[in-house]
Amino acid sequence: MFKYDSTTTETVEIVLDGAKVEVPGDMNVAAALLAIGKITSRISPTSKKPCSPHCLMGVCFECLMEIDGVRRQACMTTVKGGMVINRYLEKAEVEGAEGGQS
Ligand code: FES
Repeated sequence: MFKYDSTTTETVEIVLDGAKVEVPGDMNVAAALLAIGKITSRISPTSKKPCSPHCLMGVCFECLMEIDGVRRQACMTTVKGGMVINRYLEKAEVEGAEGGQS
């Protein structure tokens, strides 16, 4: 449905769940992670199922993740090089949720 044109955007390096990854640098954290196929933002504390950014405008809070040590809405935070982002996903819960990507 959506296609990301990686030829027109500078990338930045961030640390996502302990691994260095390159993401587009001109967008919010949620969109940058979606652009590289990381669709799971957190695990629901009630259902224990993976959640993904939903509204991308600061309303639903489905994009909460730890960004530089603080729990924030990823869709309301501009991505910057060197950011450290932790989603605290349990591997078994998201297997397949990100299209088989790790
Ligand atoms: S995606 Fe809804 S608040 Fe961020």
